[in-house]
Amino acid sequence: MVAVIIPAAGSGSRLGGLPKQMRRLGDNPMLFHTAQVFDQHPSVSTLVVVGPSKDLDAIKKILTSLKKPCEVVPGGTTRQKSVEAGLRAVHKSTGIVLIHDAARPFISAQIVTKVIEATKNTGAAAVAIPVTDTVRYAEDGCFARTISRDGLYAMQTPQGFQYDLLQKAFRQAGGISDATDDVALMEHIGQSVQIIEGDRSNIKITTPSDWEWAQQRWKTKP
Ligand code: CTP
Ligand code: MG
Repeated sequence: MVAVIIPAAGSGSRLGGLPKQMRRLGDNPMLFHTAQVFDQHPSVSTLVVVGPSKDLDAIKKILTSLKKPCEVVPGGTTRQKSVEAGLRAVHKSTGIVLIHDAARPFISAQIVTKVIEATKNTGAAAVAIPVTDTVRYAEDGCFARTISRDGLYAMQTPQGFQYDLLQKAFRQAGGISDATDDVALMEHIGQSVQIIEGDRSNIKITTPSDWEWAQQRWKTKP
């Protein structure tokens, strides 16, 4: 059985205004579009959506038309804590847990399938894209040092893990509580994670210009 946890408990501070997962793209909130990809995916059985405590009723309303069982639970102060709260709501008989940001509504079913297959085979897999820009540290408003981009990846979601492995990673997270993705916890326990090459349209909507792009892109979405 495959379950998906959708962390949607952030405040969207870099975008500002209404938390981004609640903002409309086309006719529905971003969170609905993201959840729908998993609701319609034939290999996914259940969804757990993690929301801000004050918005749980609004989120349940947004998701009422989903066909699969979908639990809505309150999140924490960091993404990691929100995912952990989501994991507590995942049934113990679950084989594979996918984790996918609510803020990535352009995820395709094909990529979800690839992550599920790779997770079945290896225990852990995550979507990423090779870094193509030149990358450089900065100090005091000026560039300091260039980093080789060879072998560098920008992480995306979904990230998929065997249930027991994800439980173990959270149990052993120790002092880490603000990891911005779940591969960081795998790294901490020495678990290798297979790379699934993603595509650039699966962006995490973060800034006002991402939001502008997303609105335009949504209109012409295939
Ligand atoms: N998230 C969460 N709980 C948190 C923080 C983030 O569930 N305490 C979720 C967000 O809702 C989002 C995903 O994790 O779907 C990725 O986080 P990010 O893009 O950083 O979203 P926000 O934290 O909402 O945005 P910002 O960092 O700009 O405030
Ligand atoms: Mg954040």
